Amino acid sequence: MKISVNFNGRNVDADVEPRKLLVDFIRDDLHLTGTHVGCDTSSCGACTILLDGVAVKSCTMFAVQANNRNITTIEGLSKGDELHRLQSAFIEEGGLQCGYCTPGMIMTSAWLLSNNAAPTEKEIRNGISGNLCRCTGYDSIIRSIQKASSDRRGGRK
Ligand code: FES
Ligand code: FES
Repeated sequence: MKISVNFNGRNVDADVEPRKLLVDFIRDDLHLTGTHVGCDTSSCGACTILLDGVAVKSCTMFAVQANNRNITTIEGLSKGDELHRLQSAFIEEGGLQCGYCTPGMIMTSAWLLSNNAAPTEKEIRNGISGNLCRCTGYDSIIRSIQKASSDRRGGRK
């Protein structure tokens, strides 16, 4: 089936099998391997992308369902060499260890902050509750999101 999708600001036309998962299309066909697969059963959040600005687990939908939609992956957050404030904050606050959950965690956080510029700790914990991290214990992730939030309000890009 032919689909047309805007990926990270670029239009992509493709012929995909109706049964192909969006995450497989992203990783295998577009070679955007920053989007990870942790469980394939919508439990871990490693595959989270933005679909028309909303955080979605890309293992839960078919590629054909993305037809005529806008998708942002972790590769689309930075502007060239300039990291997104969330990416910088995760580095500065040590919001990762192995990094497997990180792209999905950052995409969910981007969605969270786009809806709530100054979330409380409880709102952050609730907002990332669909994303699992096996390494950090979450505290450094919370601090990273809080830093990105305050950087944003302070005018940092
Ligand atoms: S791989 Fe999609 S939620 Fe785990
Ligand atoms: S940093 Fe390893 S799973 Fe989160």
